Amino acid sequence: MSSLTGKVALITGSSRGIGAAIAKLFSQQGAKVVVHGRDQAALSKVRSEIEQAGGTVIEVLGDVSRFSDIESMRQRIETELGPPDILVANAGASLTPPGIFEDITEEGWHATVNANLTATFLTIKSFLPAMKARGSGNVITMSSAAARRPHPQSPVPYAAAKAGIQMLTQHLAAQVGRHGIRVNCIAPETILTERNKRMIPDAQKTSLVEIHPIKRLGTPDDVARAALFLASDESAWITGMILDVTGGAVMVT
Ligand SMILES: NC(=O)c1ccc[n+]([C@@H]2O[C@H](COP(=O)([O-])OP(=O)(O)OC[C@H]3O[C@@H](n4cnc5c(N)ncnc54)[C@H](OP(=O)(O)O)[C@@H]3O)[C@@H](O)[C@H]2O)c1
Repeated sequence: MSSLTGKVALITGSSRGIGAAIAKLFSQQGAKVVVHGRDQAALSKVRSEIEQAGGTVIEVLGDVSRFSDIESMRQRIETELGPPDILVANAGASLTPPGIFEDITEEGWHATVNANLTATFLTIKSFLPAMKARGSGNVITMSSAAARRPHPQSPVPYAAAKAGIQMLTQHLAAQVGRHGIRVNCIAPETILTERNKRMIPDAQKTSLVEIHPIKRLGTPDDVARAALFLASDESAWITGMILDVTGGAVMVT
């Protein structure tokens, strides 16, 4: 039997990148998956790839910085597949460029905090009551190496929002363990998603490799395998953990 057989898993932000890799791996492991995003064409492509591989999958559209969108998604998921056993609150983005602190705009600050910290809070707020009612659940949040160690080139609003997600994860884990719910967080270094392959110049990719003890950049599948570990019973006694998926580039004692 595969490790997620019979589970319903929602992966937010799975129309591309890391989320799509998690959705595909969870499906291969027997989960019924819900793929989510805002880009209908990209989302449908991921859904049909999972279907063609024999998986059970539905797609839902919505902006996770709006609670009303998330609530609509939740109602559809509960009707079509049942309430999620596993929630991966993966959707997020850095919406301000790295730069001088006082040049960060108020709009850029709010947009980035909304897209990451607020979106994670709202997503969990919507799906947690059903997990509590059933006395079981598994929540995985998504931070970043940017929130694990300061760097002069990191975008500050993104790093601060992701650090907030880490603390949200740990407080929630402390609250809901007694309800049979585990809550963990993944903090990846730069991952070679399609977007990063396009956006990061080759010279920068080469210099980034140098900061990794394991001499390569990460892939979406590296993060997906970490998510599978946290989502499965292999990690049954682990909660409130920030898992650095960084090829050794971040080591926190
Ligand atoms: N890639 C990296 O190097 C890296 C490193 C550390 C952490 N992370 C984190 O890992 C997660 C996934 O990153 P990625 O690189 O895979 O990103 P990506 O390729 O840009 O994909 C982001 C996904 O999130 C969705 N999304 C973003 N904001 C949303 C919103 N407000 N409402 C609904 N959907 C939203 C996008 O949906 P649509 O495109 O359909 O709109 C897309 O599916 C993010 O939380 C990111 O911060 C990434």
